[in-house]
Amino acid sequence: MTLSLKPEVAARLKQLFTHPNEHQNAPPGDRLKRLYEYYKSCRRCPLGTQGRSQVVFGEGCPTAPAIFIGEAPGREEDTLGRPFVGRSGRLLTGMMDGLGLTRDKIYIANTARCRPPENRQPLPQESSTCISLLLLREISAIKPRIICTLGATATNAFLDYSKSLSSIRGQIIQTEYFAIMPTYHPAYLLRNPPAKDTVIADFVRLIAFLDAK
Ligand code: URA
Repeated sequence: MTLSLKPEVAARLKQLFTHPNEHQNAPPGDRLKRLYEYYKSCRRCPLGTQGRSQVVFGEGCPTAPAIFIGEAPGREEDTLGRPFVGRSGRLLTGMMDGLGLTRDKIYIANTARCRPPENRQPLPQESSTCISLLLLREISAIKPRIICTLGATATNAFLDYSKSLSSIRGQIIQTEYFAIMPTYHPAYLLRNPPAKDTVIADFVRLIAFLDAK
């Protein structure tokens, strides 16, 4: 099965990568700070007015070779204003630390930046607004070599695929701008601890990809 970027994502990336505006030559860290400042009170989708405490931006290295993307902030993320600091985040961080993928060396973010009420999944319109305004802009500032999508929501945001996540996870899919590797979400690993070995094997593959060039 050939996997490729969703047409709307490919079109937006082309716009961001090939039509630089006056900020595009600024250092990546400055571009990220500018984005955070601009969107810190964002209300462009319904999640902006449904009880979130704050917008939870991505965090990590502004020139990271790898970006990890989850679904949306949960309760602890909403309180602390940081991605992946709750139960699943602690599991993920521990697994990545063990492989040298420490959070200062990578960038970690979510498809939606505001906590959905009752921790429901973000709706497609909510995710797509956030992806277009924030995530793809962060990607165009950071210019990672690989993006690891954690779980079905993040994977669906980038790729058109008709099979299950389990049938495509661990594959490294090269696109025009970066590679994508889907794997399981850490919340799934909390429910299915044996699947941790599978995700560790996927992370080892991601590290080998980064080491290869
Ligand atoms: N915490 C996050 O920041 N994102 C998720 O997808 C899950 C927990």
